Amino acid sequence: MTHLLVRAARGERTERPPVWLMRQAGRHIPEYREIRADYEFREAIETPEVATRITLLPWELYEPDGVVMFSDILTVLEPLGFDYHLESGVGPVVENPVEGPADAERPRGSVAEDLDFVGSLLDNLVERVGSETAIIGFAGGPFTLASYAVAGGASRNHGPVRRFRARHPEAFRSLLSAFADVVREYLEYQADHGADVVQLFDTYAGVLSPADYREFVLPLHREILSDLSVPSIVFVRNMAGRLDSLDATGADVVGLDWTVDMAEARETLGDRPVQGNLDPQHLFGPTDFVRERTRAVIDAAGPRGHILNLGHGVDRDTPVESVRAFVETAKSISR
Ligand code: CP3
Repeated sequence: MTHLLVRAARGERTERPPVWLMRQAGRHIPEYREIRADYEFREAIETPEVATRITLLPWELYEPDGVVMFSDILTVLEPLGFDYHLESGVGPVVENPVEGPADAERPRGSVAEDLDFVGSLLDNLVERVGSETAIIGFAGGPFTLASYAVAGGASRNHGPVRRFRARHPEAFRSLLSAFADVVREYLEYQADHGADVVQLFDTYAGVLSPADYREFVLPLHREILSDLSVPSIVFVRNMAGRLDSLDATGADVVGLDWTVDMAEARETLGDRPVQGNLDPQHLFGPTDFVRERTRAVIDAAGPRGHILNLGHGVDRDTPVESVRAFVETAKSISR
């Protein structure tokens, strides 16, 4: 049986839109917060039984059409030679960031060895829910990873990595390229372990000028996404007005943030399947409003090649009832 999500990713007309939410396995779920009281972030991610339990929390609550493996885009930093942790109240911290142009290439580890816990997690998911729902893998994109690797953590408007690009363009190019090679290997590794669909989160790449995106990042997105053995979704925020660049990545599905008008996106992208794009903050409105706005997204997208999602991740205090209303709106449709 081919999962509904995979059929939509291939551009088929579906009887209803498949639905999942970015960051669905996270802090908006009370049980998640309980589990996190017992395990550090990396410990939770790197212990397959714990990561499996967390991944399945939203499945038990909402039965979405896909479960996204509980992990983080930063895990891949390890085979790239970086150490990181999550600091509460601060966010991710990279302990040994890129110091200068000479430091752009580091000895690389092995994806299969350093990230074997991801393979085990996916194996668990295939066994437990693989016949009922699609399993979604993911990786961070080269620019988003580079932003953390250069700044050492979150940074205002990604100033440090954009400055690095201006001062050391060739080192910037080789840093991104080294990241892209490992990301591509990592996504194939996930497909080998049963991911049905994979999403590339290059969330921050939209802060680059259009010319820089096209010169430095687009070719790498193409390299990563072309000829993957499973359907792919590309997600970059702040790309309204330049969706043609995302179309050119060759991803099977273009992810849309909430600042994109769905009907306009359909016009620009033609037959290219799309994912999105309810404003995550709309889930803080009344339930009727959530249903009505969700319905508007579904109607604007039309019946072919649409995966319903938010325009970015679920926020931490989002009411469970709103997420349920969002999922149920998709599930109530039959056409
Ligand atoms: O979607 C999912 O449910 C799957 C898991 C997932 C997480 N992070 C879990 C997580 C995914 C796909 C990500 C992606 C991610 N992580 C991105 C790109 C996508 C995006 O959100 O736009 C980025 C930039 C990161 C890096 C990262 N990790 C950030 C910015 C944070 C939040 C830091 C904070 O304190 O607010 C994390 C931590 C993180 N990743 C949490 C979860 C559930 C929260 C951990 C916790 O506090 O328990």
